[in-house]
Amino acid sequence: MHSRRGGVACYHVEVSSTPAPLPPSPSLAARRIAVTGANRGLGRAIAAAAVAAGAEVIVHARDAANAERTRVELGARAAVAGDLTDPGLGARLADTARALGGLDGIVLSAGVLGPKGRLGELDFDAFREVMAVNVEAQARMFAACVPLLVAARGRVIWVSSGLGRFALPRYGAYCASKHALEGLAGLAHAEYIDQGVLSFSVAPGMVQTKMLAAALEEDDVSEYTLPEVAARGFVSLLGLDHEAARELAGLPLDITSAGEVVAVGGR
Ligand SMILES: NC(=O)c1ccc[n+]([C@@H]2O[C@H](COP(=O)([O-])OP(=O)(O)OC[C@H]3O[C@@H](n4cnc5c(N)ncnc54)[C@H](OP(=O)(O)O)[C@@H]3O)[C@@H](O)[C@H]2O)c1
Repeated sequence: MHSRRGGVACYHVEVSSTPAPLPPSPSLAARRIAVTGANRGLGRAIAAAAVAAGAEVIVHARDAANAERTRVELGARAAVAGDLTDPGLGARLADTARALGGLDGIVLSAGVLGPKGRLGELDFDAFREVMAVNVEAQARMFAACVPLLVAARGRVIWVSSGLGRFALPRYGAYCASKHALEGLAGLAHAEYIDQGVLSFSVAPGMVQTKMLAAALEEDDVSEYTLPEVAARGFVSLLGLDHEAARELAGLPLDITSAGEVVAVGGR
């Protein structure tokens, strides 16, 4: 269902709230999609859902054994390994995509929480590390891939957070980094939309992963959204036809607990 509310484009992907396997979607067939941080958590679920939807997926993981194991387990086409802070990682991922003939989309999912604490108590070495991973590395990856995305009129999904849009006490570096990521997503939209590259900033909601457990300081996060459910929203966004997707580009998007994509604000 596609509608406009108060001048804001809204797209609701109709899915059930129970995690059933995705049927192969012709809209992702033969699309070349890269997913960072695909070895676990949300990134893994997005990569698995993209494979199930027919995409040729490039999985990224920090170390080579993990990347290759993930490729085999998910049935992905290719694997790329490296720490996000390695300045050569983006070029390696782009080369891998070139070997597949191009890149139709990249989901920038890998990220870190960093230590929690009030501004007055922050460890600024840790602050710099969070910024390096959640901001600089994301920008570098986009820069390395953007020629391929331009060539394919492709898509980039910046995996943001509600904490990129409002401040929650004690989430210092993470909160600041995701606000900066929103800025990058906005820049990518403003600078490349005319060349056909669609940039989406997506907050996935509260998803059952190690990061959520660490953020909430809880062992049991089973009441929150399954990664497989959140992943449906990402795959829907990757598969939406170009004109409908263009209406959502540059807007802050949320994934609901049912895996729907909703626009939550204006440009
Ligand atoms: N879960 C939530 O509720 C939630 C809410 C809002 C936003 N998000 C965002 O969703 C994205 C995925 O988070 P998640 O919950 O799936 O977290 P997660 O389970 O902690 O997974 C994080 C992934 O990022 C990778 N990674 C972290 N630092 C890296 C580095 N320096 N180099 C290479 N890979 C690195 C990890 O690799 P290793 O396994 O090697 O560490 C892992 O694959 C993040 O951007 C997060 O901010 C999550």
